[in-house]
Amino acid sequence: MSEFHLRTMTDDDRAEVGELIYASLNVWHMTHGRGPIFTAGPQSCEVFYDVYNDLTPGKNVVAVNEPTGRLAGSCYFHPRPNHVSLGIMAVHPNYWGKGIGGRLLQHIIDFANGAGLPTIRLTQSAISVDSYSLYNRYGFIPRVAFQDMLVTVPEGGLNLAVPLRDHVRDAVPGDVEDMVDLELDVSGLSRQLDWDYCIANERGMWHVSVLESPQGEIDGLIVSVRHPAITMLGPAVARTEEQMIALFAAELDHHPGSTPVFLVPSERDTIVRQVYEWGGKNCELHFYQSRGEFQPFQGVSIPSFLPETG
Ligand SMILES: CC(C)(COP(=O)(O)OP(=O)(O)OC[C@H]1O[C@@H](n2cnc3c(N)ncnc32)[C@H](O)[C@@H]1OP(=O)(O)O)[C@@H](O)C(=O)NCCC(=O)NCCS
Repeated sequence: MSEFHLRTMTDDDRAEVGELIYASLNVWHMTHGRGPIFTAGPQSCEVFYDVYNDLTPGKNVVAVNEPTGRLAGSCYFHPRPNHVSLGIMAVHPNYWGKGIGGRLLQHIIDFANGAGLPTIRLTQSAISVDSYSLYNRYGFIPRVAFQDMLVTVPEGGLNLAVPLRDHVRDAVPGDVEDMVDLELDVSGLSRQLDWDYCIANERGMWHVSVLESPQGEIDGLIVSVRHPAITMLGPAVARTEEQMIALFAAELDHHPGSTPVFLVPSERDTIVRQVYEWGGKNCELHFYQSRGEFQPFQGVSIPSFLPETG
């Protein structure tokens, strides 16, 4: 391993890391009996750099192949008040199995320990034993299983009539304090930064909704992203399954003419059955894994891959 060293990712790495993520994940999937997961070209994957650099600049790490100076691996990580989230981890296929993923991960574990942050959280593919093993070997524990579900939204929207849907509205900056409180209650996460960022939507790719009770309380929230690299609903948080169904139904209509993906906790059978009724199809499985303190969810917590949640 002496021919590789780690350093902080910089602006100059943006294009190369985009290529690396595109190659790493696509080659993994295509050599394991699946199609590519990114289909809009390597440059589309620069979106991960852009978003994470907007949110927490200087907190990303690359592994450099010393003889060539080329990048062999990269990982983003996002410190928040009481946790670190990790994603997206990628090692170039030429270097799989040489300990680079482990070194990147140890770097982030050391960062979390040094910063006194008690938990690292991530969502990883349950069909990838390579990914599962990497995290599990370094002390992560799988906590919740999710199925990735795709729903096609026609140009005119799905216009799904479900209870509570008329309680869902666009989020505004004044909602953020209540959004933070809700998520802290339900999943133990705190990330005002992410909600402020997605609502401000300076990159024009986010939408955020909240579910407001008749008493004026924020009982649910959902973010969605639409970009050539990723069209996805989540993160999302709600106290009940009925509320989460209303949030999904409303948010889908912000993506006409596309097929968003979203993670549904496999144990939440009411939501799973409802999404099947909407024509939902499973396309992947993921585990939420955490290392360190863990608070079981007190409601429904939906992770996403951008911004990565766990
Ligand atoms: C997943 C991925 C990042 C792993 O990176 P890597 O550099 O090949 O992994 P490493 O060589 O550092 O191995 C990681 C650890 O898992 C262990 N490991 C690997 N396969 C294992 C298995 N089947 N059972 C038990 N342990 C295993 C290794 O021994 C190593 O532990 P060690 O450091 O204690 O020896 C890489 O396969 C990859 O980029 N895949 C495509 C992209 C991807 O899936 N990213 C993760 C997104 S969730």
